[in-house]
Amino acid sequence: MSESAFNLSRRMAGLRPSTIREILKVTAQPEVISFAGGLPAPELFPVAEVKAASDLVLTNNGAAALQYSESEGYRPLREWIATEVGLRGFKASADDILVTNGSQQGLDLMGKLFLNPGDVVLTENPTYLAAIQAFQTFEAKFVPVPTDTDGLIPEALPELIRLHKPKFLYTIPNFQNPTGLTLSAPRRAALARIAAEHGLTILEDDPYGKLRYRGVEIPPVKHWDTAGRVIYASTFSKTIAPGLRIGWMVLPASLFHPTLILKQASDLHTSSFDQRVAHIFLTQNNQTIHLEKIRRAYGERYEILDATLRTEMPAGFTWTKPEGGMFLWVTGPEKLDAMELLQRAIVQKVAFVPGRDFFPADAGKNYFRLNYSNSTPERIREGVRRLAALCR
Ligand SMILES: Cc1ncc(COP(=O)(O)O)c(C=O)c1O
Repeated sequence: MSESAFNLSRRMAGLRPSTIREILKVTAQPEVISFAGGLPAPELFPVAEVKAASDLVLTNNGAAALQYSESEGYRPLREWIATEVGLRGFKASADDILVTNGSQQGLDLMGKLFLNPGDVVLTENPTYLAAIQAFQTFEAKFVPVPTDTDGLIPEALPELIRLHKPKFLYTIPNFQNPTGLTLSAPRRAALARIAAEHGLTILEDDPYGKLRYRGVEIPPVKHWDTAGRVIYASTFSKTIAPGLRIGWMVLPASLFHPTLILKQASDLHTSSFDQRVAHIFLTQNNQTIHLEKIRRAYGERYEILDATLRTEMPAGFTWTKPEGGMFLWVTGPEKLDAMELLQRAIVQKVAFVPGRDFFPADAGKNYFRLNYSNSTPERIREGVRRLAALCR
């Protein structure tokens, strides 16, 4: 953090500035081909449908939509989510569901609920940058769990639990940000079993599960959670639009009330208007058709990115093969410095995110993340050509 004339709290000293925020400023220029941000495809936002839903809300329930409302969330939306959760593979009632201001707020609330300074959080390595930031705010210590292409390795957990007594494990089982990798079904079952045996709390963050474009759907870790150790978080950011800022958590009964108090203290409630609009959108439109459109577009963009990387990239670079989501993860030769590559890339008007910021502990400098949801096929091809020329 930069020097300040103000006497800030001690926790501010531990916060790392985000490279992504800086990069996003550059990539806002239209001539830059950006694989950097984690933005959904804006042309797939259901603008007309959301407009129709907004009109209906204002016509039929305008005053209620503009009034303060319950901290728990809009009841009909919570009921819709309870049904959705059943389709994803576990049971929850509307009473277990807390609507949040994006799933990002859920991460912040879990940090507040669990973490004292110095407490340990287990994470995948690398993991979601803004989760690192959220937990760092509470002065967490991060301990990475060994991972391979099937996600984190559950057998490594008992020893890590014994050594570090973690407050919780944070995991993104579907098309992880930043790697695009997915935790296999046997590992999900093993994870839930280990959590039950060792009293480990799991925070399962699932923003991308509905964006599978190939392979077979796998139920959430929560599906195997017979001991009630898993907190499940998801969002409408990738399936409707992130500007609505509506996420949700399914909380074990004993955590619901404490989390609700934190939510009240934080923002009273998530936008009454946005929740009602989302609910009308979800109940009046065919979600299968809407999601299919997104999946088809992202699948096609991934295929183009992968194919162009295969023809253009020099030897020594490998990348993950996600079955859904919005990202893939490139590993360069050991001597690669992705920050330095980025500086040269920006001159050529192409951008990505260097891997460094995604590592909670030991940083790797030869990795970078590519987002493919936010560029058209033509721009993906051209962007990879420019990037590959720099890598050669
Ligand atoms: C893994 C992960 N969790 C949480 C979020 C936050 O999403 P939102 O707050 O928009 O629901 C993101 C956003 O990109 C993400 O990648």
